[in-house]
Amino acid sequence: MKAVIQEKYGSPEVLEIREMAKPAVAPGNVLVRVRAAAVNPYDWHVLRGSPFLVRIAFGLLRPKQKTPGRDWAGTVEAVGEAVTLYQPGDEVFGISAGAFAEYLCVSEDRPAPKPANITHEEAAAVPMAALTALQGLRDKGRIQPGHRVLINGASGGIGTFAVQIAKSFGANVTGVCSTKNVELVASLGADRVIDYRHEDFTRNGARYDLALDTVGNRSLSDCQRILAPNGVYVTAAYSLRRMVWQAVRRPKNVAGIYTQIRREDLVVMKELMEAGKVRPVIDRRYPLSEIAEAIRYVEEGHARGKVIITI
Ligand SMILES: NC(=O)c1ccc[n+]([C@@H]2O[C@H](COP(=O)([O-])OP(=O)(O)OC[C@H]3O[C@@H](n4cnc5c(N)ncnc54)[C@H](OP(=O)(O)O)[C@@H]3O)[C@@H](O)[C@H]2O)c1
Repeated sequence: MKAVIQEKYGSPEVLEIREMAKPAVAPGNVLVRVRAAAVNPYDWHVLRGSPFLVRIAFGLLRPKQKTPGRDWAGTVEAVGEAVTLYQPGDEVFGISAGAFAEYLCVSEDRPAPKPANITHEEAAAVPMAALTALQGLRDKGRIQPGHRVLINGASGGIGTFAVQIAKSFGANVTGVCSTKNVELVASLGADRVIDYRHEDFTRNGARYDLALDTVGNRSLSDCQRILAPNGVYVTAAYSLRRMVWQAVRRPKNVAGIYTQIRREDLVVMKELMEAGKVRPVIDRRYPLSEIAEAIRYVEEGHARGKVIITI
């Protein structure tokens, strides 16, 4: 099988495509023929080993996991001993290591069945971005019907899901994006769209019950200012400065997200998509051979929805 290999930290040029042995399917695992994968900002952080702290988790001198990629969708090709949830031919999607390859092996309790009404490319777009949006809004933000919700970065991977998920909870949604994405964010159901090139969402007097920030370009005190009494500011975008600020000040109305890989949340997303309430937005598609270009594009920070690797 073909797989992307990363032997060292560096720019996208360090990635190679190699012919590798197909993984053997272990007991309790399923072997998946990957049909599509998605690129996340996570992938370029791991590629570069940056910020340096990520190397504590991923390998101090070189990456422990040689095949990058997290989000995927595909077809179960074989099942290991004692597997009960899936059989060959089932279509599944999920998050696990080694998504940028033709095959991967994963514990049967990680993936969820692919929604019937979307393609493999759309399903691959979902896991990390949608779970971050869902967990940020529902678990950290305790979203309720009628809440005024602001999504900063509404046109990105997380943001395009967050706008639709917040609407599915019955919230009144304001999305923040640049001029070229105003129409896209409105088409996802946002009640109001703020073009950050012309209006500063921290200084227009509006107040929100919940703000989900996927950009992290504003100071936390700016973002706290936009909160209604009992409002909460939830951030997916961390910097060392923010982490230190939060650790020292421990503000009650600020929460950070660290995305949990939960099969039951993939099932929640499956149901939302099958109900027609959420549809993944795909910006670009690249073949596996152009993985370096795909990651470079995501690293620029202006993707409109998700970037997909077709396999
Ligand atoms: N904590 C966690 O567990 C976790 C999990 C997943 C992701 N993350 C982090 O969350 C962040 C977002 O991830 P993502 O997948 O959504 O990224 P992404 O898809 O690369 O987001 C790009 C989007 O950000 C928008 N953007 C850039 N500058 C902006 C600004 N000044 N104001 C408003 N929007 C702006 C861009 O819109 P324009 O082109 O219109 O500017 C673009 O649509 C990343 O930092 C990622 O590392 C954290």
